[in-house]
Amino acid sequence: MRKKLTKEILEEWLENVRPFAYDGQVADYIPALSKQDPEDLAVSIYYLDGECIHAGKVENCFTLQSISKVIALALALIDNGEDYVFGRVGMEPTGDPFHSIYRLEQHRPSKPLNPMINAGALAVSNMIRGVTPDEKVGRLLSFIHEMTDDHSISFSREVASSEFETAFLNRSLLYYLKQHKVVTGSVEETLDAYTKQCSIELNVRHLSKIGALFANEGKDLHSGRQIIPKHFARICKTFMVTCGMYDASGAFAIKVGIPAKSGVSGGVLGSVNGFGGIAVYGPALDTKGNSVVGLKLIEMLSNRYDLSIF
Ligand code: DON
Repeated sequence: MRKKLTKEILEEWLENVRPFAYDGQVADYIPALSKQDPEDLAVSIYYLDGECIHAGKVENCFTLQSISKVIALALALIDNGEDYVFGRVGMEPTGDPFHSIYRLEQHRPSKPLNPMINAGALAVSNMIRGVTPDEKVGRLLSFIHEMTDDHSISFSREVASSEFETAFLNRSLLYYLKQHKVVTGSVEETLDAYTKQCSIELNVRHLSKIGALFANEGKDLHSGRQIIPKHFARICKTFMVTCGMYDASGAFAIKVGIPAKSGVSGGVLGSVNGFGGIAVYGPALDTKGNSVVGLKLIEMLSNRYDLSIF
């Protein structure tokens, strides 16, 4: 087990990174997200022994956005197995922005390069078992309830419909994927499931607990129950390293070295074997769509406590 930090240190460090809250922009391409306050900052660390320390606005809920891609991938793997999932989505990083359409045309048969970019995540959502979008999202929520032991977690209807009404690029990706038989069924229903998935709301404590579960080889920290098969937890963490921060993943791996996944709401999830889960919330984003405060704080933690997995 690596060395632990105290709550006081975490509070001090959060104050140290507060000036960066205005170094980026809050996402506004999903109109409902533009209401977020750049100064609503929070951080939580969930250790493998079950201890959780946090600082900032810990009770504030935010939407998962792209962080949901890792959780949806774990569920799609459980539902369908590895061969099926990776028959439709690749395993390679892109070096492109998260919503890029460009590479889809470069591969035959067409296949999104990985499950962390939007094209791949839309295909993964489509693979989650369930006849209706609500059934798929309901299963994803139950999975999250199991991981966090909080059955009150749900999704924001406001954020989901705000994205659904304006997601023209994601619709284009889906129509392209439908044409090439990567996704099946209704495009609008898949987009409905995906936007609800991205709008699942939780706080940093929940998210750090999920990170700890991934770090604990998919087992619940308290009951020891295997919620995600070890091999699938490992696949998810590997994607977090290679593609979790999009076209900033290489620099992040070198500077920070923690499997991590960001979302445009400003959340970042980290998972370190032998240590636990880390979650940061800071809504201002850099140009690549990653939380400025989230990156700073995780980098500080990693350097100070030698958390790089490399
Ligand atoms: O599909 C979208 O554009 C959003 N629902 C999620 C994108 C996202 O979080 C990218 N991450 N940094």
